Order: sequence, then C-alpha cells, then structure tokens
Amino acid sequence: MKKIAIAGFGFMGAVHARNILASKNLELCAIIDNRENIFAGIENTGNAGRLDLPIEFLRKIPVHRTLEEYCRTENPDAALICVPLFLHYDLTKRALNLGLDVLLEKPFCAEPEQCRELIELAKGKQRLLMVAHCIRFAPAWEFLAECIRDQRYGKLQLLTATRMGGEPTWGVWQDEKIKNTCGGALLDLLIHDVDFANYCLGVPESVKLNLNKDEYWEFELKYHDEPAKISVKGGFLYRHTAFASEYAAAFENGSIRFSTLEPELIRIGTDKGAETVNVKGDAYSAELEYFAECCETRTAPLKCPPEASLQAIETCREIRQAIPASV
Ligand SMILES: NC(=O)c1ccc[n+]([C@@H]2O[C@H](COP(=O)([O-])OP(=O)(O)OC[C@H]3O[C@@H](n4cnc5c(N)ncnc54)[C@H](O)[C@@H]3O)[C@@H](O)[C@H]2O)c1
Repeated sequence: MKKIAIAGFGFMGAVHARNILASKNLELCAIIDNRENIFAGIENTGNAGRLDLPIEFLRKIPVHRTLEEYCRTENPDAALICVPLFLHYDLTKRALNLGLDVLLEKPFCAEPEQCRELIELAKGKQRLLMVAHCIRFAPAWEFLAECIRDQRYGKLQLLTATRMGGEPTWGVWQDEKIKNTCGGALLDLLIHDVDFANYCLGVPESVKLNLNKDEYWEFELKYHDEPAKISVKGGFLYRHTAFASEYAAAFENGSIRFSTLEPELIRIGTDKGAETVNVKGDAYSAELEYFAECCETRTAPLKCPPEASLQAIETCREIRQAIPASV
C-alpha cells in the first residue's frame, strides 16, 4: 500500500481524496492546502454541482500547509497535485525533489520547457511522473480507442468530440487573476480530447482552427498517414450551464455515439441494426489504481506517459497560434 498526500484540496483534490479512501492500494496520508478552512463548501464544488464525500473520514486526515512541512516528519511515497495550473511546475518540482512519485492533474504545465524540465527531473530522481489525463481511463473512451485500434467496424472515417459546460465558478476560478492563468477552455477542457486523439492516432501533422469565439473553439487535427477527419468542438458556456462531453465516431461499417448525459450507454449503428454497449466504472478511480500499480511495480506509466502530456500542451499551443493575428 502506497502512502499518498494530496496537494490542493479543492474540487479535484476532494474527488481524488474520496477515491483514495476507497482504494485498497493507496493510503491517504495527508492533505496539503494553504487555505484556512478547507472543508467549507467543499461538497458544492465542481461541474456536477454536488460531491458525495465521506467528510467524517476526510476530517481525520492530517492537514498541512506545505509538502515540505509534512515531509519533515513523515515519509509519503507519492503526491497527487491538484492545484491551479500556474502552480503545477513549482509544486511538481518540489515534490520530485522531496523524492516523491507524482500524479499531477492535467494540464501538464503552461510552458513546454517546464514540462521537459520536470520529465528530466523525474528521470534523474528515478521517480514516476504521470499527468492525470483521465479520459485515457474512461470506459467509454477506452471502448472507442479499442474500436479504432482493432478496426472491428472497419477503418475510422470521422471522429467528432464535443466538450462544453458552464465556465467554472468554484475554487480558484473565483479569483479573476488566477482564472486568467488557467489556460482557458482550451487547456482546461479541450485538452482532454486533444490528448485522446493523440493517444489513438499519434502526433498531429497539422491543426486547422475553424472557429474561435472567446472561450468556444472548433478545430481539426490531421495525423500522418491517417485519412480520417478529426474534429474537436466546445468550450465554456455561460456559468452554471450543464456540462457534457460527447463523441461520435464513423467507421467504414458502423458508427458509435456516446454522451456523458447517458453515462453508461454507448450506442452503435451497423447494417445489423442498432446495438447498445453498457459501460461502467469511474475514470478517476481507474487512473489512480493505474498510478498506484506503476508505483508498486516501479514501471513507467506507459498508458499515460508525461511525454504524451507534453505533446497535448504543444498541440494546444499550435491551435492557439492558429488564431488569425487580426482577431
Ligand atoms: N481531470 C479533470 O477532469 C479535472 C477537472 C477539473 C479540474 N482539473 C484540474 O485540477 C486542478 C485543480 O482544479 P480544481 O478545479 O480542483 O481547482 P480548485 O480551485 O477547486 O482547487 C485548487 C486547490 O488548490 C489549493 N491551493 C492553491 N495554492 C496552493 C498551494 N500553494 N499549496 C497547496 N494548495 C494550494 C487551493 O486552496 C484549492 O483548494 C487544475 O489543474 C485543473 O485543470 C481536472
């Protein structure tokens, strides 16, 4: 069982804390946060409106203001970093220098150079570094990835992924200065789909921006030797608007559709008629268990390597650079 400390107890920190408490392979040894009352309003954060948290168990976990303070007397194995983007580099570097394995919430870091430095630092310290791109572990997306790989419905022709919801209103997003460092909808939301497309198809050869209005984006990704059209759309809507992410994939001999509005159902159409596939399981728990297994076996997180998370940052930069200069 690996001892893991959570740094940043906001929306994602609380979600991961709940899942760690339910895990047989991880022990939640500490919560690191620099706020005074970390439990105030915690159940009302996030894009689902309400979190179901085991508050009485969470209140028993030691709370510290910094990782260094906690590590003065204790020896955790790993840190799960869930702070705003502008702190990703600094906290990850500090955790690696303390000798910890690190699971860092996406996106990696705003600057590719910072990502590269952390990848090298982790290698030098012989520590594991994984960026939490949870969609790689989401059952409905794993199903799609398998269909693309094994071509059970023929070759992929078109993938369109959509992800949108109200602009976040919780936690650090309420601070206008910090909000402006979070990378907007591109790095906060759409990087999930960019990373998933890269996961399935490789490194994009080119990107094509079709529409950008404030925090709404529509773009295409083109991959080497891949004739399929890949389109990603979405962004932030007016605050408090329901969140949904969806995909539709057209293959030579069938199509697959999924929406988080019907979270346990994948709909498929082929010449045989309509079919459904039931999916169950939580991406965040699967991601955590995978990281725990990598820590236990000292194997690199090949299903979600930090180099791929750096590639997702670079692809998003290319998309942002595609905005015409006059806009
Ligand atoms: N994987 C996903 O689906 C998903 C969803 C939402 C957010 N995220 C990512 O999770 C990260 C956090 O987002 P959030 O929505 O949980 O934010 P949040 O504002 O709810 O939580 C951030 C927490 O970090 C704490 N913090 C700030 N500075 C700190 C410091 N120096 N040391 C320790 N704690 C500090 C804050 O007090 C707060 O509790 C971001 O990188 C975001 O992109 C991922």
